Amino acid sequence: MSQVPWISVSEARSAASTGKSVELRGWLRTRRDSKGGFSFLEINDGSCLGNLQVVAPGELSNYESVVKNLSVGCSLIVTGEIKASEGQGQATEMLATSVQMIGDADPQTYPLQKKRHTFEKLREWAHLRPRTNTFGAVTRVRNRISFSTHQFFQEEGFLYIHTPIITASDCEGAGQMFRVTTLPAENPPRDPQGKVDFSKDFFGRSAYLTVSGQLEGEIFATACGKIYTFGPTFRAENSNTSRHLAEFWMIEPEAAFFDLNDNMALAERYVKRILKDVLNDCAEDMQFFDERVEPGLIAALKVVLDKPFERISYTEAISILEKSGEKFDYPVSWGSDLQAEHERYLTEKHVQGPVILYNYPAAIKSFYMRMNEDGKTVAAMDVLVPRVGEIVGGSQREERLDRLLARMKELGLSEQDYWWYLDLRRFGSVPHSGFGLGLERIIQFVTGMQNIRDVIPFPRYPGSAEF
Ligand code: 4AD
Ligand code: MG
Repeated sequence: MSQVPWISVSEARSAASTGKSVELRGWLRTRRDSKGGFSFLEINDGSCLGNLQVVAPGELSNYESVVKNLSVGCSLIVTGEIKASEGQGQATEMLATSVQMIGDADPQTYPLQKKRHTFEKLREWAHLRPRTNTFGAVTRVRNRISFSTHQFFQEEGFLYIHTPIITASDCEGAGQMFRVTTLPAENPPRDPQGKVDFSKDFFGRSAYLTVSGQLEGEIFATACGKIYTFGPTFRAENSNTSRHLAEFWMIEPEAAFFDLNDNMALAERYVKRILKDVLNDCAEDMQFFDERVEPGLIAALKVVLDKPFERISYTEAISILEKSGEKFDYPVSWGSDLQAEHERYLTEKHVQGPVILYNYPAAIKSFYMRMNEDGKTVAAMDVLVPRVGEIVGGSQREERLDRLLARMKELGLSEQDYWWYLDLRRFGSVPHSGFGLGLERIIQFVTGMQNIRDVIPFPRYPGSAEF
């Protein structure tokens, strides 16, 4: 055990560490041997984007035997004094008094050599890509957004609740659920009609992975007032796009006595809080994304922070699209769902910033949304942003029992399946609202990363569940 304190590379890079004798533990990013008989080692430990430059002098007892053979990717413990750096682009460096190699990385077989790899290639190495600059930065931003989420909702008086992962109800009514079963795939029990008999299954009924915690969230909102969930969500939709995952993380606030306007205002405050925190606390990572991934990113996000989100009703949006003179692949008309190209037009060309669309036709939205006075539209709202499109989907919920029952009947949903949801309208019903924000979508927006598969540690999508 060494006598000096172990500090992070992030701390070591701060001028405040100058003059201290410390220990660093991390991985070698590069080694450069100087003609003067010493070597430069760039060490990273994931605490920040930048490396610390360690000068390993030729006098070290293992200089020839170990230091000069260190290869990229090996793990190290180094000890020495932090000095003000004479080189450019860094405040400090370390003059090593000891360099200890902990785990080697064979240069013949270690995949992450200095050469740049495509994001597609790196997906095949999801076990090693966190060691790259981009994934390190994504990981830190993802962490900051998660932390901001809890800070924001806690400060606003929301209770964090845990909704089930395994559920019997299809919240979105879209039939895109993964079945959870312990029945044998071969020769499962069958009912007299020859269908698989799920009453013999583990839960005595059909069960699935959740597509949303909303319905259970409503149970708690109508008891505790303001709640939020933050958990994994699953969709068995066969979408091979840069914005869809089969497993993603969603944050779902739900608040009693909130109407659609309160809901939109909450979503705007929350998104802005995330942007503010990331710009403040992940400055170095954001600079990297701005330089390497999406030029102009930081300036664009600052504009978003300063401007109110534009609110446009679905009906107005359709007329804007019809009058745009753009040639869309999918034609627009009142009643049709908006495609990515339409969302992009609205956010990137028409508004040049975030847009909240509200009051959608009932026919293209879920059963639980509150019917408006016009009898055609529901109190739904989606937040759309440039490049990514929809990051938030939410609504005011139908709190009137008769309206909800009528809507469910129309859609062929069984009253029995939703008996407890209906009870919330029978006993002390209140107007209430909520939304879901896709964590990976907001990370894409904040970092400029183009593919959603590159902002989650282990992406699941059709045909892929490696790692
Ligand atoms: O619009 P969605 O489907 O809404 C709901 O699930 C509601 N129950 C939420 C609520 O009101 N409590 O999904 C909400 C958000 C979307 O706006 C999007 O950001 C994200 O979840 N999302 C996905 N993200 C990645 N991959 C997918 N397949 C996604 N589907 C939805
Ligand atoms: Mg949606």
